[in-house]
Amino acid sequence: MDSKELLKNLKSLAQLDVDAYQAYGQAIEKTEHAPIRDQLSVFREDHRNHYDELSRVIRQKGGEPPSFTKDFKGYVIEGMTSLRSITGTKGALEAMETNEKLTNKNYDKAASNASLPPEVSDMLVTFYQDEQRHLSFVQETLQQKPWEKDQ
Ligand SMILES: [Fe+2]
Repeated sequence: MDSKELLKNLKSLAQLDVDAYQAYGQAIEKTEHAPIRDQLSVFREDHRNHYDELSRVIRQKGGEPPSFTKDFKGYVIEGMTSLRSITGTKGALEAMETNEKLTNKNYDKAASNASLPPEVSDMLVTFYQDEQRHLSFVQETLQQKPWEKDQ
């Protein structure tokens, strides 16, 4: 993989993490169950850490990382815009399931590229593991239906 292609891939992942961070912010606001909200906040920080680490590597390789905008734009992840209209814990988790499937797909693809520099490969494998953890939690919680126990 040449450095131009590597930078392009890393920037695209960094943008994905910015979008995921913003989407988690919206999902957290809509989540009515405090323990779930706390867990989603931890996942949001994982995305922030991914962005920070990716940005460091992008700069190291002579590139300019995407900005960590506070305005929710969702330009990479189309499904994230649906968060504006959802309500409650169930809606928030369903939206995040869609989003996490997308981040998982992208990290899986990026991490499995055989021509990555070893240090970048290690980093992406670790980040992909974070993504798998996020998706598992969201799917398990959806199956447990905590909102039904409130009634
Ligand atoms: Fe995630």
